[in-house]
Amino acid sequence: MTTLELMEQNALSELQSASTGEELEAWHQEYLGRKGALTLFMRTIGSLPADERPLVGQAANSLRQVLEQRHQEREAAVKLTELAVGLERESVDVTLPGRRPVTGRLHPITQTLRRIYAIFGEMGFQVFDAREVETDLYNFGLLNMPPHHPARDMWDTFYISDTALLRTHTSPGQIHAMRAYYPQPIRVILPGRCHRYEQVTARSDSMFYQVEGLAVGHGITMADLKGVLGSFTRQLFGPERQMRFRSSYFPFTEPSVEVDMDCTICSGDGCRVCKQSGWVEIGGAGVVHPTVLRNGGYDPEEFSGFAFGMGIERMAMLLHGIDDIRYFYSNDLRFLRQFGRLM
Ligand code: FA5
Repeated sequence: MTTLELMEQNALSELQSASTGEELEAWHQEYLGRKGALTLFMRTIGSLPADERPLVGQAANSLRQVLEQRHQEREAAVKLTELAVGLERESVDVTLPGRRPVTGRLHPITQTLRRIYAIFGEMGFQVFDAREVETDLYNFGLLNMPPHHPARDMWDTFYISDTALLRTHTSPGQIHAMRAYYPQPIRVILPGRCHRYEQVTARSDSMFYQVEGLAVGHGITMADLKGVLGSFTRQLFGPERQMRFRSSYFPFTEPSVEVDMDCTICSGDGCRVCKQSGWVEIGGAGVVHPTVLRNGGYDPEEFSGFAFGMGIERMAMLLHGIDDIRYFYSNDLRFLRQFGRLM
């Protein structure tokens, strides 16, 4: 009986100091487990004198009940404490002011493109989407450059297979648009990425955006082209800026011109963007070649048209005074954050 009393005292005091689930489990093993102190004690009862057995047996059984009961109570209390500690740790101060999520912004090229869409939209041009992976036939052949035509050298090309390539300009979209619109008149712009296997410099990248323009109808002339591009550059850059047409050559237009803007990066003093000339070439243009009209399905005796292809990065550089094209795609947030418009 004394052993049982001592065991009860020890067990209850140890139980009181058990404060985690594991400690409680260990305590249970120590006293009530298969090799626990009380279990072992109960096995010795059989060897006691017969008259003592009932009393000791009863006392041992009731101690087992007490210990089980107190263990359960303690276990519930420990769980509650652990829960409270957890809640405390995870508590949220609902009175704190909210954190403003970081909002992205449109890339400067996207912003420039949207300004361009708005200006041409007012002049009645719709956006026409064309593919970025093209065939040799559309990128060159149907644009009046059959295989081995020397003018193909004007564009250094990334080929994907013998016949597929990354378009070097948005001009193949002219053929897609004509074939989609025939026999109606056309007034579309075709924006998109172009790729050239070119030396990367301050003014040229191997990937860049162009916006192509195409108008086809009755009696369209070079004068319409001049009027549209003059109006466009005045609206985009401001009426005080100068634009010039320079005679040029493209196999798919005749006559052909290149379009220059006065260089705002050096204000005409000469820099690496304008190659010290004071003028920055922003695009090529011209009157659609009869062969190209025919390839698009239009009869050049009846229809005529103009087309242009302008570099978006070049225009964005002039708009914002950016002196190196490589900033656009280097993912430097210090650069990108300067273009705040979220429209
Ligand atoms: C063309 O790509 C012709 N398809 C344009 C055209 C369309 C002429 C319709 C006639 C009718 P060009 O290779 O010059 O032409 O490129 C046009 C413009 O794209 C250039 O003036 C320039 O602004 C931009 N561009 C060309 N190459 C690059 C480059 N590597 N990096 C950045 N911009 C470029």
